[in-house]
Amino acid sequence: MVVVGSGVAGLTAALRCEAAGLTTVVVTKARLDDGSTRWAQGGIAAALGDGDTPEQHLDDTLVAGAGLCDEEAVRILVTEGPDAVRRLIATGAHFDESAEGGLALTREGGHHRRRIAHAGGDATGAEISRALVDAVRARGLRTVENALVLDLLTDAEGRTAGVTLHVMGEGQHDGVGAVHAPAVVLATGGMGQVFSATTNPAVSTGDGVALALRAGAEVSDLEFVQFHPTVLFLGPDAEGQQPLVSEAVRGEGAHLVDADGVRFMQGQHELAELAPRDIVAKGIMRRMRERNTEHMYLDARHFGAEMWERRFPTILAACRAHGIDPVTEPVPVAPAAHYASGGVRTDSRGRTTVPGLYACGEVACTGVHGANRLASNSLLEGLVYAERIAADIAARRGGQEPPA
Ligand code: SIN
Repeated sequence: MVVVGSGVAGLTAALRCEAAGLTTVVVTKARLDDGSTRWAQGGIAAALGDGDTPEQHLDDTLVAGAGLCDEEAVRILVTEGPDAVRRLIATGAHFDESAEGGLALTREGGHHRRRIAHAGGDATGAEISRALVDAVRARGLRTVENALVLDLLTDAEGRTAGVTLHVMGEGQHDGVGAVHAPAVVLATGGMGQVFSATTNPAVSTGDGVALALRAGAEVSDLEFVQFHPTVLFLGPDAEGQQPLVSEAVRGEGAHLVDADGVRFMQGQHELAELAPRDIVAKGIMRRMRERNTEHMYLDARHFGAEMWERRFPTILAACRAHGIDPVTEPVPVAPAAHYASGGVRTDSRGRTTVPGLYACGEVACTGVHGANRLASNSLLEGLVYAERIAADIAARRGGQEPPA
């Protein structure tokens, strides 16, 4: 089988397929660790804490999704999520631990519980990417880097037969080729680069959705592009990837304030700064319009230097690189494009409407996010649905019914 993309979804699918004895090739248009996963800060949500349950995680996800989630898809996510995270840990990812020795869990917007596991403080995606890339290399999976997948190949019956690709090497290594396979997993990430300011890396160009459309696959909910409320404001003309200031900063007690230091999310929602992301982004935009200004501020001076350095080293470094010191001053923030909640339509096993073509992660629309993704559900979706795809492909190759 061919996996296109090398974030959490793609590499998890590839590792599980390889473990099931399937010949697996990973193709990625940049380097193995160049996708969006590496940039994820806050963490991965799962009901892993004392007293938390998948049912409570389900409730928070459905509320954030504004009534448009597929409840069955969410139930799969929250029920299979905790064990999927444990398997990720068994694969080699190291998460931050609490003083008692269990997983350290934080809160983010829309969550009524502490259920976000994180790594390296605010470098969760980087650690997950490192662990998965290491595992792929250790197990000797075939990988093709710097290769842009162009189109799906199909047989006379319209079934998936592989992909064509453009290997963007130098000299004799540059050229067009094909990889033949009866199953293709699209895990190409999002499309944030369509917008002028985004948290997404340069590779998030929507090429997976475009490929799927050309192949005749159904897509859905593409209009639901999520804007992250707190992206470091670098000026009105700043373009391309902008530094994220994780929701976990608010989860640990930072406040959103205007230029007069007034908290404006209080009274707008019972969770104030920790309301679901769409509500906070709109609250910021509303205040910006009222005040005729281009940004608001995130104030976490009360964390102190030690907490900033230990808990949010990535964000601290990014702010300081732009001349802002969050230890002594509020951080200017504004919303920017962050996540495609819709994508290539799949069923609960990641199957698209084209036989043999699967989609997983941000490129897919499983229905779990509805109109607005709950914070830190995306890494979890990548894990859970990648495992389901691998199980489906393995069962079909073995001539069995896929697991329920
Ligand atoms: C963040 O750390 O705020 C981003 C988490 C997410 O997009 O789920």
